[in-house]
Amino acid sequence: MDRFETNLRIPGPTSLPSTVREAGSRQMINHRGPEFAGVLDRVTSRIQPFFGTRNEIVVLTCAGTGGLEAAIVNTLSPGDPVLAISIGAFGDRFAKIAQAYGAEVTRLEVEWGDAADPGAVRMALESSPAGGFKAVLITHNETSTGVMNSIPDLAQAIRDIAPAALILVDGVSGVGAVPFEQDAWGLDVVVSGSQKSWMAAPGIALASLSERAWEATRTARMPRFYLDLAKHRDSQRDGQTPWTPAIAVMFQLDVALKHMEQEGQEAIFARHAACAAATRAGLKALGFELFPDLAVASQTVTCVRLPDGLDWKSFNGELKARKLVVAGGQGKLTGQVFRVGHLGSVTLDEILAAIGVIEEVLVETGREATPGAGLAAAERAGLAALEAAGHAAPDTSKRIARAFA
Ligand SMILES: Cc1ncc(COP(=O)(O)O)c(C=O)c1O
Repeated sequence: MDRFETNLRIPGPTSLPSTVREAGSRQMINHRGPEFAGVLDRVTSRIQPFFGTRNEIVVLTCAGTGGLEAAIVNTLSPGDPVLAISIGAFGDRFAKIAQAYGAEVTRLEVEWGDAADPGAVRMALESSPAGGFKAVLITHNETSTGVMNSIPDLAQAIRDIAPAALILVDGVSGVGAVPFEQDAWGLDVVVSGSQKSWMAAPGIALASLSERAWEATRTARMPRFYLDLAKHRDSQRDGQTPWTPAIAVMFQLDVALKHMEQEGQEAIFARHAACAAATRAGLKALGFELFPDLAVASQTVTCVRLPDGLDWKSFNGELKARKLVVAGGQGKLTGQVFRVGHLGSVTLDEILAAIGVIEEVLVETGREATPGAGLAAAERAGLAALEAAGHAAPDTSKRIARAFA
């Protein structure tokens, strides 16, 4: 772990490569000058392929939640009927934002740990209020449960039954790490956040709107000022943002996206798949049960159950003492699960190091765990996933695995 003081394995913010970190410490520039215009242009154009879109990417200075709020208040009016498909804490949050601004929200609640079923979505849409739903809210990657929804299947179901409904997607913790095709899947608004797959500090939300969504902004009557997306779009066409942007985070995104372009989408997706496979296999070999079904398990965060008798606070204390930082359960899963983030600049080495620490804590605290089993399983699964994706295994993972064996 020479790159980072701590192995930060939460599902965002993520550890930053040193070049990205340093970019954030650059001297400030005039945000109304040509240099910033260049940064803005490079960032937005390099993000488009990861969203799978030709839409202009709107840059907002706020957390991901601000981006979700922008998606709602710019496309909807008070009283609009909205279907909120929630598979966890972040799906609930999206629904709450719509409710807070006066939308008539119908919730399709999915058991935590499951993905949304397109058949259930079809049924919910068929019993829609007169006039149909104005919008459907969906989470791409539910960070609280470690589940990744199949967005193309859900979008297809929505288009089949309710073609006029806008599809608003919380893509905060998944887009950038896995294949994503906003235009081909017919998604109207997609939102992400700088601190997730984009290897930058928190502070910038990214939003992409379809033609239909921009059309909806003309008549949407929910109150908005700071998060007015049309203002942002118009300002961006002049190489600016309407308000002072998080310039340091933009500097970081500029460098991070250059790295992402150099690495290439395929390699990035293969790396995330390998890290996810390694995390799941390593934790399974140490006796942890995956919270969701493997078939719907996320590629960016792994959620496992805490077995009986393993107290979260003391277990986490032991991990932290060894500089491994993972995430606990959220909402109703508090104390029942823990989560390991594997997104952004994550490497297989870092995952192996994390599994090694978890293994060490289990062995040292007298739990039933075979020394070396977690690490060996993680390495095997990670290397197999890389090979399956046609990507050479990094030499260093073998070295690290040996060091922990
Ligand atoms: C799926 C999802 N949606 C929304 C958010 C909210 O993002 P932020 O914390 O930047 O507001 C997160 C953050 O973890 C998330 O994972």
